[in-house]
Amino acid sequence: MKLCVIGTGYVGLVGAPIFSEWGNEVVGVDIDQKKIDRINSGDMPIFEPGLEELVKKEMEKGTLTFTTDLEAGISDAEIIFICVGTPQYFDGSADLSAVWSVAENIGKLVKPGDPYRVIVTKSTVPVGTNERVEEIVRENAPEGYEFDVASNPEFLREGSSIKDMRNTDRTVVGSNSQRAHDKMAKLYSVLDAPLVQTDLRSSEMIKYASNTFLAMKITFINEMAQLCDRTGADVKMVAKGMGMDNRIGPKFLNASIGYGGGCFPKDVAALHKTSSDNSFEFKLLEATMAANEIQAQYFANKVLEVFGEDLSGLTFGALGLAFKGNTDDVRKSPAIKVIRKLRGYGASFKVYDPEALETGKADLGETSVEYVSSIEEAMSGTDSLLILTEWKQFGEIDPADIKKAIRTEHVFDGRNMLDPKEVEALGLRYYGVGRTH
Ligand code: UGA
Repeated sequence: MKLCVIGTGYVGLVGAPIFSEWGNEVVGVDIDQKKIDRINSGDMPIFEPGLEELVKKEMEKGTLTFTTDLEAGISDAEIIFICVGTPQYFDGSADLSAVWSVAENIGKLVKPGDPYRVIVTKSTVPVGTNERVEEIVRENAPEGYEFDVASNPEFLREGSSIKDMRNTDRTVVGSNSQRAHDKMAKLYSVLDAPLVQTDLRSSEMIKYASNTFLAMKITFINEMAQLCDRTGADVKMVAKGMGMDNRIGPKFLNASIGYGGGCFPKDVAALHKTSSDNSFEFKLLEATMAANEIQAQYFANKVLEVFGEDLSGLTFGALGLAFKGNTDDVRKSPAIKVIRKLRGYGASFKVYDPEALETGKADLGETSVEYVSSIEEAMSGTDSLLILTEWKQFGEIDPADIKKAIRTEHVFDGRNMLDPKEVEALGLRYYGVGRTH
């Protein structure tokens, strides 16, 4: 099939080469010329494991191209995917201006007599958006132009998005047209995963329901961790015991310094806004937002309890800037929240992140923060160590190396990656999240 993917962010830039891998001809379109030039030269604008190789392979095969020319991009496409950003607006709602603008441009660029197309939104958009997309295209397209709209939310995680898209648990397609459903079913017939076919609004809601539920699950275990800290239970053991119940499941039960990133915070806020716009008080969402807001501070407070409220003259080794492992994305990163909070009390930092040093520096600046290029450098000669992002390699640090590197005995593990017993056997003091044993 011939496809056009509009927007080359995390969703479009991963989706386009994978559709191509499935045997389709794909044109990726973005308005940002610099970004398209970068992609065409083989340099990916985001760090995503395996992406550069995959894009290169599909481009060499000749079934994947990138352009800024939307008219050329959509001209042959049977399915057009809208994958543009929907960032958080000041009132919590999703800013849909990019979606509206793409819909308007598609409407203006299609020609009388063009073949039938399905226009699909993959961006995370609130209930009702696709109906508006349909209206906008219709208002701008030539009289009688044949098309349908569909919603096809993406469930991929940054850092494992290629794997997630190839091995999705399910594909969700919402449309009010059987013709569109049939076309989408053909596209996804390469996957073994179940295809959930719904109406437009339910599909839009499934995406928000999934993300907010996961955010709530993390928040549950984070609050449970605070209770474990007060009662002497170990949250890791609690999560293990709970997670073995099939009805609960083991995933997304890692207590931490809070969830961050470009999705959960924005999507929880947007669904909350949808709720209040519909005169509904979604109490769990409110609690989730409020609890997540303070989780990073809760962890930072552990440092203040040990070192006092004047941290001037102290240097902390900080491991991690990204909002989670395997990405260079620092949007709403809880790691950065912790550093900012402690810097406010006078602390200095030596920071290492395998991929997010540049993005982290752009966010955090250089005041009292030195950016270094290895775990060893970050730890060496500091007063204490903080683990802030769940990069696998941080969990593999030999506690004996920490002992040699830091001046005091205090080790703060915001991702519960180290073994407290191993750490404390060396005479160090371990502070995790919910692991006061
Ligand atoms: C999330 C969803 O997991 C995807 O299914 C969805 O497609 C995506 O949003 C999106 O809407 O585009 P992502 O934001 O990439 O994916 O990251 P996650 O792996 O979900 O992690 C989110 C945050 O939760 C991170 O800060 C992570 O460190 C934290 N987390 C995750 C925990 O603190 N504990 C856990 O057990 C799991």
